[in-house]
Amino acid sequence: MTSLDRFAQSKLDDLERRHLRRALAETYREDGIWVEHDGKRLLSFSCNDYLNLTQHRAVKRAAAAAVERYGAGSGASRLITGNHPLYAELETRLARIKDTEAAVVFGSGYLANSGIIPVLIGRDGLVLLDELSHACIYAGAQLSRGRVLTFRHNDVAHACELLASHRSEHDHALIVTDGVFSMDGDLAPLSDLLALANEHDAWLMSDDAHGLGVVGGGRGSSFVGNTHIPVPLQMGTLSKAVGAYGGYLCASGPVIELMRNRTRTLIYSTGLPPAIVAAATAALEVIEREPGYAALPVQKAKAFTKAAGLPAAESPIVPVIVGEEEDTLDASRMLAEEGFLVAAIRPPTVPAGTARLRLTFTAQHPDDQIVRLAGIVRDKILAA
Ligand SMILES: Cc1ncc(COP(=O)(O)O)c(C=O)c1O
Repeated sequence: MTSLDRFAQSKLDDLERRHLRRALAETYREDGIWVEHDGKRLLSFSCNDYLNLTQHRAVKRAAAAAVERYGAGSGASRLITGNHPLYAELETRLARIKDTEAAVVFGSGYLANSGIIPVLIGRDGLVLLDELSHACIYAGAQLSRGRVLTFRHNDVAHACELLASHRSEHDHALIVTDGVFSMDGDLAPLSDLLALANEHDAWLMSDDAHGLGVVGGGRGSSFVGNTHIPVPLQMGTLSKAVGAYGGYLCASGPVIELMRNRTRTLIYSTGLPPAIVAAATAALEVIEREPGYAALPVQKAKAFTKAAGLPAAESPIVPVIVGEEEDTLDASRMLAEEGFLVAAIRPPTVPAGTARLRLTFTAQHPDDQIVRLAGIVRDKILAA
C-alpha cells in the first residue's frame, strides 16, 4: 500500500468505527416520489424535489428543446461565450418573483454562496452566521478571510450582542442565515434580523434554497404570512423545489452588476447547460401560475407532524431527532423494511448528538401513506 492509500484507508476506518462512513447508493427515481434505491422499491421522503417538478412534462420538454436548439453544454464561462440566450429570461423571472431589481444565476447554490460572500466581505470585514447555516455559507464566509462569528440558532438577541460588541472593529458586516433551515425545517426571523442589520449598518443575506417554490405562496421565506420582508441579498438554488440545477442571487442592480464582475465562482466556472436553464425557467412558470400547488408540500408536512405528535411543520422539512448515529441508521433501515426511504443524517451535517431522520414532503405524496408513516414514527421511533 502506498502512503497515500494508507492515509485514505485509516481515515475510512475511523469513519466506520464512528458510524459516520457514507456510501453512494444507486438510486433510480421512477417519478416524483417512488425510487429504486439500493435494489429496493421505496416511497421516498428524502428528495428535495418538493413539487416533483423534476418530472413535470412541460419542464422536461423545455429541457429537451433547449438541447436541440443550443446543444448539451454552454462551452465556456458566462463572461466569455457561455452566456446563452436562455439566461436572461431566467434572471428576469427570478428578480420578478423576489421583487428585486435584478438577479444573477451561478453554477450551483454551493458555488453561489462560496462566491458571493467574498465579494462583499474582505479581510477587514465581519460575517455573522446563524450557527445552523448551511455548510456552503460557512465555506463562503471562510473564503472571505474576514472575521467569522456565529450566533445561537435564530437568537436575534445574541446576534445583537455580537454586533454591539464587534461591529465597530470592521469596515463592513454581513449577517447570513438560511431562510428555511435545511436540516431543521424552521424559518429564520428575517424581519427581526433585517431590523437588526439596519440598526448596525450591516447587510442581510438569506439562503432560500428550501423556501423558493414552497413557502410564501411559492415566492420564498421573505414572503411568508402575506408580508414582504425586503431582504437586500436573497440567495437560493434552482435544485430543490425548482427541480433543475443552479444557484442565484436576487438583489439591487448595482449589487448584481458587481457580482457579475467580481464573483470568482461565476468568472472561473463554465456556464450552466442550456437544458438546465430552460428547465428552471419552465418550473418557475409553474410555481408562479399555481400557488395552490406550491402550498401542498407544507400542508402534507403539517398533516404528518399532527399525526405523529410532533411540533407543527413550518416547511416541507421535518426532522425526527434520534440522537446517536447508530440508532438513527437502525431507524432508517427499519423504515426501509416498511417501504419508506428516509435518510439518516449524521454529523458533521448536523451537530454531534443530534443525528436524525430528515423527512421531506412533496406535493404528490399520498395522504394514506403519510398517515401510515406517521404512525410508525410515533410508535416505533419517538416512543422508543
Ligand atoms: C441551505 C442550502 N444552501 C445551499 C445549498 C447548495 O445548493 P446546491 O445543491 O444548488 O449546490 C443547499 C443544498 O444542499 C442548501 O440546503
